[in-house]
Amino acid sequence: MAIQKPRIDINGSRLWDSIHSYARIGATAKGGVKRMAFSQLDYQARDQFIDECTELNMTIERDKIGNIFATMAGEDPTLPVVMVGSHLDTQPTGGKYDGALGVLSALEIAKSVYEAGQRPKRGLQVVAFANEEGGRFAPAMMGSGVFAGKLSLDDMLAIKDIDGMTVAEELGRDSTGDYPARPNTAIDSMFEIHIEQGPILEEEGLPIGAVTGVQAIRWYDVTIVGSEAHAGPTPMTSRKDAGLGAAELSLAIEQVALDHGPDGRGTVGVIVPSPASRNVIPGSVYLTIDTRHPSDEALLEMKQAIQDAAKVIAEKRGLEIDVTEIWHSPATPFDEGLVQRLEHFAAERGHPIRRIWSGAGHDSVYIAQMGVPTVMVFTQTKDGISHNESESIKKEDAIAGCEVLADAVVERLFKG
Ligand code: GLV
Ligand code: MN
Ligand code: MN
Repeated sequence: MAIQKPRIDINGSRLWDSIHSYARIGATAKGGVKRMAFSQLDYQARDQFIDECTELNMTIERDKIGNIFATMAGEDPTLPVVMVGSHLDTQPTGGKYDGALGVLSALEIAKSVYEAGQRPKRGLQVVAFANEEGGRFAPAMMGSGVFAGKLSLDDMLAIKDIDGMTVAEELGRDSTGDYPARPNTAIDSMFEIHIEQGPILEEEGLPIGAVTGVQAIRWYDVTIVGSEAHAGPTPMTSRKDAGLGAAELSLAIEQVALDHGPDGRGTVGVIVPSPASRNVIPGSVYLTIDTRHPSDEALLEMKQAIQDAAKVIAEKRGLEIDVTEIWHSPATPFDEGLVQRLEHFAAERGHPIRRIWSGAGHDSVYIAQMGVPTVMVFTQTKDGISHNESESIKKEDAIAGCEVLADAVVERLFKG
């Protein structure tokens, strides 16, 4: 039986304006956003978020990894809160919606509940998780991972970006307080809205999806060591070219993903040769691998296949190749009951919806792994393109998604 809840309508135009106001922080010439984790621009967006939450009389808490929690008190402070949010950081060539849609939809729900003047039974906690992208400081979903106790705070504070700057040093920008390792609030449920970042909803002409879970991810750091030599006099047959090792390994990773198709994914996103001089055969290369699969077993098979390929390439080319796994996020299903509530409210509002599995990682994964009932809403993404400055969504789809999210959140807020 449906739980009685007040009807609270979000202000769709205000949500859309809010998303585009945050998109100005770090706006790029090509229409995207560059607001990488813990940068000055990230702090600017976070400060704007804190100011807006403070205007709604929400209590602001932060933790040692930089997550921000803004809580609107409920009637009964002993009840676990409903958590809603996502992240404000972006990729280096990011778009306006990846992450921001989730935080700003949560904020829009808080504004609407506040304006409705009805005090929910339990608190509403809007969250902006730190460093979801992992593009600057790996791994991804760092803030939520530390919050969930799945990543060690000390390990994460020591992570360096490519210039050698640590997370701890960047967090030092925020010198306004000594924050707790983690706020103590119990969580009733977690909700996140995000762009799909894939083609399925668009192909099927659907505005939104109810996310049933997130596929498994494994990330690796690879170093390939050969020997620098002159590009001219050194015969092709007596080289230890780390660059060619990287090229061959990249192709092998593509093949491994294809062999585990159609769902396997393998990406080499960073390749840094050294000494990076036109007429020097690369003596070493650093590269990164991102692998994904909905099946944990298949992803493990891919790991073995990549390690085997690295061994063969190393022997063939006289190289040393080290493949180290730096992060693993297992396949994580979301809460079936909450998926059904999304379907219920979508039907009630007349928004077509389908169930969908997520190819991208999300902060909700770590919250679900804490045993908290969790669900996500996806919105249609133009051409399925994200992690790209041209990332685009339709206003009406964002509003449809936020309406359904709001209904499910409000139901939970007013539940005793
Ligand atoms: C987060 O954007 C991911 O890597 O899936
Ligand atoms: Mn995201
Ligand atoms: Mn992303």
